[in-house]
Amino acid sequence: MILVTGGAGFIGANFVLDWLVATGEPVVNLDKLTYAGNLGNLAPIEGDRRHVFVRGDIGDAALVGQLLATHRPRAVVNFAAESHVDRSIHGPAAFVETNVAGTFSLLESVRGYFGTLEGGERERFRFLHVSTDEVYGSLGPRDPAFSETTAYAPNSPYSASKAASDHFVRAWHHTYGLPVLTTNCSNNYGPRQFPEKLIPLMIVNALAGKPLPVYGDGAQVRDWLYVGDHCSAIRAVLERGRVGEVYNVGGDAEMRNLDVVKAICATLAQLRPGRDYASQIAFVRDRPGHDRRYAIDARKIRGELGWTPAETFATGLERTVRWYLDNASWLDSVQSGDYRRWIAEQYAEAAK
Ligand code: NAD
Ligand code: DAU
Repeated sequence: MILVTGGAGFIGANFVLDWLVATGEPVVNLDKLTYAGNLGNLAPIEGDRRHVFVRGDIGDAALVGQLLATHRPRAVVNFAAESHVDRSIHGPAAFVETNVAGTFSLLESVRGYFGTLEGGERERFRFLHVSTDEVYGSLGPRDPAFSETTAYAPNSPYSASKAASDHFVRAWHHTYGLPVLTTNCSNNYGPRQFPEKLIPLMIVNALAGKPLPVYGDGAQVRDWLYVGDHCSAIRAVLERGRVGEVYNVGGDAEMRNLDVVKAICATLAQLRPGRDYASQIAFVRDRPGHDRRYAIDARKIRGELGWTPAETFATGLERTVRWYLDNASWLDSVQSGDYRRWIAEQYAEAAK
């Protein structure tokens, strides 16, 4: 079996659901259930004996040590993190706590467990760390895309904390021989993404007749990947990746934010006609330190591991919008009082 951390969040939950379909191999899922974690994301596998959910913190060494000793996973896949850039600007401490100190503590727990493995179990064991393209900083319009050898240049508290975690993972391989793999992926979108991130926020606001808040001039570029394609990339790296290596993951789908928002409006106009969604677009104050462009050069994972994304941005976006339209009760359940407070505070400031 494998141990997944952060498997009640957006990508982690999609990964667990896909994993059980693709491999059938049991999963222990350790998640703290912060505001971003939601057991409703795992509703399709409720009662499935191949999935064991444990509420807890990756930084709780006693709990993690006990889980490792009891379940003896052949791999650990680390999704657990604070993941929203705007929240990291408001309150960076939680990002240092989970992404830096939490990853460090998890690495120490896994190192202790790895030390008990012998023979084939030791040979086979892997620690896969899920990271982001944001660690590479910001590109100019004509710069080449980020490759695995691009120097780290994180610009936000979030990306600085992820960069730190990547460095710890690398060091635990070089110093202690822990068999690690790291993936650095571009922006994901798809079902079950918390509606604080660009694409689900725009869908939710569009449907509610609220403004669609585009930061600055909306010409920032992100390289979008459907979440199911990120999951298949992680499976490929886990099974065939070379120990100690980094793999960049991206969908060759660079888009300006304003064009993403317009594409959402156009998709909604087809699937839920009756309103001029694009007229709700509102330009608001820019994010401090806003990275201008991200782009991923994914030739290594494509060439070495034969991975390719199944979705284009157009097909992935349509699937995503359909999912949100079909899952109104999920959307209601995640828009708690805390969520509404975050949105009110964040966008009142942005409107100033
Ligand atoms: P998310 O915020 O939706 O989910 C994070 C999950 O981690 C939540 O379920 C939360 O409860 C859990 N968690 C937080 N702190 C924890 C802790 N201390 N111990 C245990 N669980 C904890 O995030 P996401 O978008 O699914 O991202 C998952 C991972 O992928 C993160 O490491 C993120 O940096 C990385 N990533 C995300 C994207 C993206 O576009 N969303 C792209 C590339 C990489
Ligand atoms: O690149 C990978 C990263 O992508 C992940 O590591 C992060 O966890 C994930 O949150 C995401 O970070 P971004 O900052 O790129 O994603 P976000 O959805 O917050 O914003 C996407 C772009 O849209 C960004 O340029 C900011 C802009 N934006 C965002 C919001 C929430 C707006 O214009 N308006 C908004 O209201």
